Amino acid sequence: MNFGIIGVGAIGGTIAKKLAKAGHSVKVANSRGKDVVMEFAGEIGAEASDLTEISQDVDVLIVSIPYGAISSLPKDIFENLDDDAIVIDTGNYYPEVRNENIEDFGNGEVESIWFSDKINRPVVKAFNTLLAYSLAELGKPSGDENRLAMQISGDDENQKKIVTGLIDECGFDSYDCGTLSESWTMQPSSAGYCCDYTLDELTEVKKKSVQTPESVAENRAYFYNNFAELANNDFSHENVIRLNRKYNV
Ligand SMILES: NC(=O)c1ccc[n+]([C@@H]2O[C@H](COP(=O)([O-])OP(=O)(O)OC[C@H]3O[C@@H](n4cnc5c(N)ncnc54)[C@H](OP(=O)(O)O)[C@@H]3O)[C@@H](O)[C@H]2O)c1
Repeated sequence: MNFGIIGVGAIGGTIAKKLAKAGHSVKVANSRGKDVVMEFAGEIGAEASDLTEISQDVDVLIVSIPYGAISSLPKDIFENLDDDAIVIDTGNYYPEVRNENIEDFGNGEVESIWFSDKINRPVVKAFNTLLAYSLAELGKPSGDENRLAMQISGDDENQKKIVTGLIDECGFDSYDCGTLSESWTMQPSSAGYCCDYTLDELTEVKKKSVQTPESVAENRAYFYNNFAELANNDFSHENVIRLNRKYNV
């Protein structure tokens, strides 16, 4: 398949590497032009692209940049896409850490609905519920009993099926959270978010969860305002997963 990936950071760069390694044709771009991504693209077997070309002739466009940068993307990126191309949103909104304050999210807007409305296209939300380290280092072959699961949502079942196949190629199982309007259940601080669970573990946690959109928002605010104290300044992967498992229920 042909992929365009906007953002070559911890998430977009890792997905690009995995998909190129799996034999797909991958173009990558950031905000600073083709020359800047040339070296990285060469290293992973991808093609460097400008934003103006990133969506031409691709089957899947993956957007992996902070939500605060979405509004600055040239509109023709999405207008140039084929009608049946899939758009994947990997985003998480953390105003304190990496995004400007986006007022709609304060009013309870579901993040990927906001994104889909901005680009005027259907969206599949995926690749946002594993930490960058887990995505890069903890993938396993299908059938491995310790294989981790990531969450996915979207309105088009066929698109979700294709994205589930890509997730599998990247080394993970998928847990279907439902439609895009239900994707608040996989936003930051939701049940099982960034917890490194297997599919069985994640299914159990989701089944038991009594979260609401409001309680997820409260949990996120509490967790991030108190993160350093809760972590006792130990930001190791193991400690972050331990805390996520405790709070994201
Ligand atoms: N890190 C995690 O553990 C994690 C886990 C799950 C989901 N996520 C989410 O996935 C998204 C990407 O996260 P990340 O950790 O990969 O971020 P990152 O490492 O900071 O990388 C962000 C990438 O986006 C590019 N970018 C920024 N503004 C851009 C613009 N206007 N146009 C085009 N490219 C732009 C950056 O390149 P230039 O600035 O050079 O353009 C960079 O390549 C975020 O929404 C994040 O919340 C992150």
